[in-house]
Amino acid sequence: MAFVEFTAKEQIGILTINRPNALNALNDQVIRELDQVLDSIDVGTIRCVIVTGAGEKAFVAGADIAQMSKLTKAEGEAFGKLGNDVFRKLETLPVPTIAAVNGFALGGGCELCMSCDIRLASETAVFGQPEVGLGITPGFGGTQRMARLVGMGKAKELIYTARNIKAPEALAIGLVQAVYPAAELMAEAEKMANRIAGNAPIAVRACKKAINDGMQVDIEAGEVIEEKLFGSCFETQDQQNAMTAFIEKRKHDPFVNA
Ligand code: CAA
Repeated sequence: MAFVEFTAKEQIGILTINRPNALNALNDQVIRELDQVLDSIDVGTIRCVIVTGAGEKAFVAGADIAQMSKLTKAEGEAFGKLGNDVFRKLETLPVPTIAAVNGFALGGGCELCMSCDIRLASETAVFGQPEVGLGITPGFGGTQRMARLVGMGKAKELIYTARNIKAPEALAIGLVQAVYPAAELMAEAEKMANRIAGNAPIAVRACKKAINDGMQVDIEAGEVIEEKLFGSCFETQDQQNAMTAFIEKRKHDPFVNA
């Protein structure tokens, strides 16, 4: 792959958008490569994926403006669908994802991190949806996910004004879960990923699905989703191992994802 790297560190995957000369801007090739990488992740072994950007300056500085500048209406819609489909694939990846936002996360970059489950930012990170200043709307899910994450009023303010915000404000509005010095960001992301990877993987995946699917429906329907996923954890080796160990007052054996 030219622009997307995936490396496995035991049970953790590190997915890097790697086009630093263009601040990791997303052209159609980058998005297609991201699609292929997501398809190739083996959730039998990988228990958490960290998404980050290459270089010290940017997570992702948005969709590729040079490429978008020449699109027709139909091509623009198709480009939006390509991004939306791939970002939805990322959002619904069975295992948890952590965005390690190491710099500019603008436009499609902000939308990429919002498609992850958890966002950790460096002190140098900058977030924003600058699209209306370029004559377009956010096109890779920004109008949908921003409001779900930070509330409708704040989402509308940020999207209508195209105002960039720095990491402390992103933390204050709940767009990110934690902010670290740039040099510590990846270590902190890996620490969190390892902690997640140490829990029962079938249960972790069920929690992700229950939260994601439940947020789209009313609470009664959400509780039915939860009951089914809760039930699906019983009779697994990991459930029996952990509960037996608790009853016997000892540490459980490592989880085996079965
Ligand atoms: N598309 C294409 N190229 C980009 C880019 C983008 N989104 N962002 C940066 N680049 C390129 C620059 O053109 C430049 O390339 P050259 O060296 O060949 O000239 C290189 O990356 C470095 O960028 P700058 O020289 O601009 O770096 P800077 O430090 O002066 O500024 C920045 C950094 C403030 C992030 C600035 O690059 C910038 O404003 N980028 C655009 C951000 C943006 O508007 N993103 C939203 C795009 S629209 C979108 O994403 C739609 C959607 O929802 C899908």
